[in-house]
Amino acid sequence: MQDGRTTLSKFLIDTLDRKPGPQSQIGLSALLIDVAASIKTISAALTKGALAGNYGSAQSVNAHGDEQKKLDLATNDIFLQHCEWDGLLAGMVSEEMEGVYEIPEAYPRGEYLLAFDPLDGSSNIDINGVVGSIFSVLRVNGESGEAGFLRPGREQVAAGYAIYGPSTMLVLSVGNGTHGFTLERDVGNFVLTHSDIRIPEDSCEFAINASNERFWEPPVRRYVQECKDGRSGCRERDFNMRWIASMVAEVHRILMRGGVFMYPRDFKTPAMQGRLRMLYEASPMSFLVEQAGGMSITGRERILDVKPRALHERVPVILGSKNEVARIGRYHGEYDRGEDKPYTSPLFNERSLFLPDPV
Ligand code: F6P
Repeated sequence: MQDGRTTLSKFLIDTLDRKPGPQSQIGLSALLIDVAASIKTISAALTKGALAGNYGSAQSVNAHGDEQKKLDLATNDIFLQHCEWDGLLAGMVSEEMEGVYEIPEAYPRGEYLLAFDPLDGSSNIDINGVVGSIFSVLRVNGESGEAGFLRPGREQVAAGYAIYGPSTMLVLSVGNGTHGFTLERDVGNFVLTHSDIRIPEDSCEFAINASNERFWEPPVRRYVQECKDGRSGCRERDFNMRWIASMVAEVHRILMRGGVFMYPRDFKTPAMQGRLRMLYEASPMSFLVEQAGGMSITGRERILDVKPRALHERVPVILGSKNEVARIGRYHGEYDRGEDKPYTSPLFNERSLFLPDPV
């Protein structure tokens, strides 16, 4: 398929509907077209900015206690309206809703489950920064309600995100590579512009919220310290650091030019395993990254093999260029086996003097 000539619908018909065998998923292309329609509507709303009067807080909190912005709720409704009617879904889960959204009786139920974060990185909204939407599609497996969603990410039949930047892009995988489409605004089509994206295996760029450093585990501190040591340290080359505070923007950069993104396990809030949510952040992004030749782990396990136990479960995330992520995984192994001498000091472990008392 040719970059610049293929629309999203042509791509999906060719990839899913005309291919017999395991890749053939009846109705999946139609569902993804509805997801793309939600994204176009959200893109149009975001482009209006403050003129549309939907900036600011909605004066409510979501299931995780995060403040909801008016746009978090508006974009959630856009996804529901575009996807509930088509007879393709059996249920939806979103960052902004506590439980499973049941398909209204007026509409037929279908064979797929959709999990989504309608507006990722929404703290960037008020500063006109980059935000995104993330989605994940599973096929129903006989289990209903929450249990139907609580499956390892390797079972996803499709995953993707939209990035609302200077241009709006939809990046998607249905299990045959990761492909990027750019919204041609005046026509309203998503056009294939980045086919078969490949993440470089090596990189000199990492992204992490460095203000959490004192709460990180030793293997992460070791990796970041070595990057900061640059050419005078054991890595013998200089590294660059980035932090946009929007997972979509970080993952997009990594898909375009490589790098590592980390929101690792930390002890800032000991009750939480990580910051990012499994079903609609870690799992779909890991699917896209692996389909582009990258790697995605918790530090100790492949994320796509982790079975979530709750709809809004959080998980540590380390993803990106294969050789760098493998190195961080190795550091976790060395630390766990007690082989990582300089970082096994009590000052760097879970009972460290630098950490707050558990809550
Ligand atoms: O909810 C997720 C998120 O907004 C991610 O998109 C982003 O990577 C992260 O939170 C930003 O976290 P922090 O507020 O620690 O910078």
